[in-house]
Amino acid sequence: MCGIIGYCGPRRAAPILLEGLKRLEYRGYDSAGIALATPGCTTAGEGADSLGVIKARGKIKDLKALVPPDIAGTTGIGHTRWATHGEVTDANAHPHLDGTGDFAIVHNGVIENFHQLRDHLLAQGVEFHSETDSEVIVHLLARAYQGDLVAALTATVSLLKGTYGIVAMYRGEPGRLVGARNGSPLVLGIGQGEMFLASDTTAILGHTRQVIYLEDGEVVSLTADEYATSDLMNREIRKEVDHISWELESIEKTGFTHFMEKEIYEQPEAIRRALRGRLDREYATGHLGGLNLNSRELLEVGRIVLLAAGTSYHAGMVATYALEELVRVPAVAELASELRYRNPLVERDALYFAASQSGETADTLYAMREVQRKGGRVLGICNVVGSTIARESDGGVYIHSGPEISVASTKAFTSQLAAFYVFALLMGRMRHLSHDQGLRLIEALEAVPGQIEAILAHTEPIRALARRYASCEHFFFLGRGINYPVALEAALKLKEVSYIHAEGYSAAEIKHGPLALITEETPSVFLVPRDGLREKVITSMKEVKARRGPVIALAVEGDQEVARVADEVLYVPEAHHLMYPFLLAVPAQLFAYYCALERGCNVDQPRNLAKSVTVE
Ligand code: AGP
Repeated sequence: MCGIIGYCGPRRAAPILLEGLKRLEYRGYDSAGIALATPGCTTAGEGADSLGVIKARGKIKDLKALVPPDIAGTTGIGHTRWATHGEVTDANAHPHLDGTGDFAIVHNGVIENFHQLRDHLLAQGVEFHSETDSEVIVHLLARAYQGDLVAALTATVSLLKGTYGIVAMYRGEPGRLVGARNGSPLVLGIGQGEMFLASDTTAILGHTRQVIYLEDGEVVSLTADEYATSDLMNREIRKEVDHISWELESIEKTGFTHFMEKEIYEQPEAIRRALRGRLDREYATGHLGGLNLNSRELLEVGRIVLLAAGTSYHAGMVATYALEELVRVPAVAELASELRYRNPLVERDALYFAASQSGETADTLYAMREVQRKGGRVLGICNVVGSTIARESDGGVYIHSGPEISVASTKAFTSQLAAFYVFALLMGRMRHLSHDQGLRLIEALEAVPGQIEAILAHTEPIRALARRYASCEHFFFLGRGINYPVALEAALKLKEVSYIHAEGYSAAEIKHGPLALITEETPSVFLVPRDGLREKVITSMKEVKARRGPVIALAVEGDQEVARVADEVLYVPEAHHLMYPFLLAVPAQLFAYYCALERGCNVDQPRNLAKSVTVE
């Protein structure tokens, strides 16, 4: 999943493209490039007959070093790559040109039938310069062009199978860009006398707040002053203009060293935003606008299924414990990528949630569409406003975390929990939860931000622990009950940012095999809050100790018994048993962050990963 961008207007395009690509870099960061054109001349100077392309392996800062500071060109496209087809090389970087050098494209997605198309083009004498699937697009575009760039792109995409967000330009129409979308996000930005295309709004937030979200099967043509959207039958379609509410500052580091650190520290405020206006003390219940379900329909829900991937899946797993306890209906979290191809049984009384921070994760999007195709109702729980899952779901909830830039998701995890808990309270109060129980839950939820602030005010012990253990190459994270998914999440965080091999497990499950991996070099981190499973977890700690495995515990302040068993203890405040997933996640996130720093890793852009996984 790459980041793509396009600009046309009166200003020099290069600095705008480079700044936009820097904001999109969390989508993929192995290589990058730009292509430029200026009405009446080309970037290579008067008389040169091809578009000016500059591209290379490496980060945006490496590309920037290659771009002459005063380079001309007021129309241009750019790309930052997350390789799917073809290694990380200069040739495989985008933009790609056709044989004449007149057409240039950037692409985000996967062209599944590119082999057939490539063979067809090779048979027609086309020469390829890269191993990418994307390059077939520019050759098809050049061959389809008969004076109308929009018609040529429409004809081209009708030959493609797979996913794409494409921006293209032609030397013969220097002030024009065209774009098309299927499966990969593409946003049109409407400026004052200038226009933008980008994979997401973070790339254009500094220039405009007026945007149009393209849907699958839509094509757009733009110049500096006008735009037109059409479908694959070349019929014009009218689109609604949306307004971006995020502040530019929210996508800056604002004094923090890394976005991950900033976003960990933003959790108290993010959770307050996720709860704001959604807790009703008078009726001791929750309110969620946007569900598109009336009370009777909510009452008829007999089963809740959560579809998600990665960290969102772990948040969904935590939610199933809270939903079953508070609502007393069966709740299950499903790996979206697995559910889609399992020919799922969609029951009449089941309510599905598609949980996704980005709202663009292909696995979750396609699983949602599969359930909807089978007549299921799917609500979205998303962070990114206007994202595809948010737009295509049957209703849903925004978690209001604010932009999450670091690839390792942190604040979205706790904000998703907050939104799920409000839903559980709402449903629970419609069933057997008493007014008092509802109130206690509201008080417990409202206490969470302050409890996290207390943890964030005292991080030195976590940092010191990371200094002592960051050289270990293997870790276990172990929890029980509602904290078992938090153990999975803690392991994922450490893996993602520090490249340490870590496994999350139910503390009870390790005696069925993984205990064999316990050595003096393999620390086990136990999540052992004061809940009904505390004793059981302490027993598991002793089993690991007995095999000389180092034991680190995340426990509640003042828990002497745990301190007697564990080698190291990090404390969290005492809380309602359902709130510990919030409180235990934060020291686990910080531990991963500090270990990554100790190991000199690129925290915000871990190798091989990307923030929004828009390919299957
Ligand atoms: C989490 O840190 C990872 N970036 C990844 O697992 C992520 O949670 C997953 O790709 C799902 O993303 P989403 O919430 O945007 O759908």
